[in-house]
Amino acid sequence: MKLLQLWPSGVKDMKGAPLPRARAAPRRHIWIPVVVIFIAVTILWVYMYPPQDYTYPVRDWYPVRDWFPAEPARELSDEEIAARVVFRQILSTPPFPSRNPKIAFMFMTPGKLPFEKLWELFFKGHEGRYNIYVHASREKPEHISSVFVGRDIHSDKVGWGMISMVDAERRLLAKALEDTDNQQFVLLSDSCVPLHNFDYVYDFLMGSKHSFLDCFDDPGPHGVFRYSKHMLPEVRETEFRKGSQWFSIKRQHAMVVVADSLYYSKFRRYCKPGMEEGRNCYADEHYLPTLFNMMDPAGIANWSVTYVDWSEGKWHPRSFRAKDVTYELLKNMTSIDTSYHVTSDEKVSPSLQFSLPFAICH
Ligand SMILES: *[C@@H]1O[C@H](CO)[C@@H](O)[C@H](O)[C@H]1NC(C)=O
Ligand SMILES: *[C@@H]1O[C@H](CO)[C@@H](O)[C@H](O)[C@H]1NC(C)=O
Repeated sequence: MKLLQLWPSGVKDMKGAPLPRARAAPRRHIWIPVVVIFIAVTILWVYMYPPQDYTYPVRDWYPVRDWFPAEPARELSDEEIAARVVFRQILSTPPFPSRNPKIAFMFMTPGKLPFEKLWELFFKGHEGRYNIYVHASREKPEHISSVFVGRDIHSDKVGWGMISMVDAERRLLAKALEDTDNQQFVLLSDSCVPLHNFDYVYDFLMGSKHSFLDCFDDPGPHGVFRYSKHMLPEVRETEFRKGSQWFSIKRQHAMVVVADSLYYSKFRRYCKPGMEEGRNCYADEHYLPTLFNMMDPAGIANWSVTYVDWSEGKWHPRSFRAKDVTYELLKNMTSIDTSYHVTSDEKVSPSLQFSLPFAICH
């Protein structure tokens, strides 16, 4: 009956029940081309103006999370409430959409980069998909490869194991965040060597929804023993974590690092070498693992993309000399799928590794 009402008035006057159906047939023929044209225009539109989901987050979908770290039972201070609300906003806001997502490779070095030529080979042919940033803390390096020329950022002195190391990381992140195309931020040292090709690394990092930040609980002397009660109430001993400083973090996590001042101040004051009771704390090994363990534990893989070996049980991961680097070692490193976090109290906590390491550093 509805159909009838829509018809021009003259049609209504015609008699007989079958009429509407008979008239409907030519109408349908008109609709077919209309629908076809509509679909074609839609396809053309989507092709010319792809929605963001088609270009970028297909590989890395950032759901808007209604997430928040478990609130501690105690009453939070004003600073904590403020910090948490800022982090929540950053973490639940999808990153600035980019049509040309890039990886920021951030090199932290005292001076020259001995493997520039190797990295040049790694980057060759992938222009426009990466940016390089160099933080040289002792002397301005002479670059032998053109990809590194002009990529030095403003830098300052860095003391081994000191908060100045974290300052340099934050400086690199802030500089790299200026380019909104940068979606992943990889921190590397002058001694890192790539283990996989660029495409592999790019697809792997862009396709992951985690940040690759090493993070584990070490109840031994090189772990929780470094914790100071002065960090209370914001950082409790049970929240204190350890990890290698080399990371690859996504844009939102990079924002969290540059936005944090509350937890950063705690580590600057109470995590340093030569503290009371003979304690040595190294901010670069504890600050970020602890921060993310508290603020976004599900957002980090708990593993880094750089190969580190803590199995010697020392205060520093195993380092490799030229004679250690054999074909067998490299084969081992590139085929890792299970790895172990070795804690300094001699207990081994095996867990599945999410990532294949793409660079080896010491
Ligand atoms: C990393 O560890 C934290 C705490 O142990 C855990 O909640 C989180 O799920 C882990 N991340 C992944 C990706 O499994
Ligand atoms: C490579 O891995 C095998 C088996 O895990 C091990 O026995 C060997 O010592 C490793 N080689 C090197 C050079 O690390």
